[in-house]
Amino acid sequence: MDALVARAVDRLRSARHVAALTGAGISIESGIPPFRGKGGLWERFDPMEIAHIDAFLADPALVWRVLVKELKDIIDRAQPNDGHKGLARLEAMGILQTVITQNIDGLHQLAGNTDVIEFHGSFAWQRCLQCDQRVETRKVDASVLPPRCRCGGILRPDAVFFGEMIPPAALWRSQEVAARCEVMLVIGTSAIVQPAASMPIIARQSGAVVIEINPEPTPLTGVISNYLIQGKAGEVMNGIVSGLESTTARTEGGLDFRP
Ligand code: OAD
Repeated sequence: MDALVARAVDRLRSARHVAALTGAGISIESGIPPFRGKGGLWERFDPMEIAHIDAFLADPALVWRVLVKELKDIIDRAQPNDGHKGLARLEAMGILQTVITQNIDGLHQLAGNTDVIEFHGSFAWQRCLQCDQRVETRKVDASVLPPRCRCGGILRPDAVFFGEMIPPAALWRSQEVAARCEVMLVIGTSAIVQPAASMPIIARQSGAVVIEINPEPTPLTGVISNYLIQGKAGEVMNGIVSGLESTTARTEGGLDFRP
């Protein structure tokens, strides 16, 4: 792993455009469960029965009770971990420009990243099915389910349910960022949900180096990604950040001694 971290540090240092694509895995260390695999939400629920737009429209109170309220309670308490903080540090160092995230938890923004494309929408807001008014999730009274807007309409998360389109602006901008970047970090995603999973493909086809960070291989591994740094997002990002900081410090020190 250390050799691959050093390789990533080298490439990141010389790249002018760097993007990251993140998934649920980056938020696991913040206490938010993933969707697939051990402890994943889809182990307990059938996504077609609980996370499909038709399921929500058929029984919004049920979806609020078993999925939305639980997620709201978890996300309300969650704080960014070293994975999120590492990406924010990369932006502060002028290395990373854009994070494309499939997550709806807002933790990248909380960590300090300023250009975050929320590919699957956001949990920070609810939207009225009737008048389209948006309401901040933290201001929603969830004591009676489903919660309602002032107009009486039902509130839904401003996130993408199965069976819905990706917000067009998020899709177009992500495609543009993927096509332009020289390095794409693909962190904590199983890379099986489309069209998010095609962003690394666009990046690679456009000549970028695609670096995966994940404890497990994915369908991208060995096919689309140039290499996989096998490990947890927080640990690997700590390694990358300290590698970048020490090489930057060495370069600065070296310049001091030039004639
Ligand atoms: P998944 O739950 O499918 O995948 C989580 C990934 O995180 C897996 O590849 C794990 O190996 C990896 N992982 C586990 N622990 C990790 C750690 N500590 N650090 C880094 N990676 C770790 O989540 P997503 O790929 O984000 O869509 O799922 C994509 C979409 O499927 C979600 O956005 C959601 C879901 O259905 C919608 O809700 C529309």
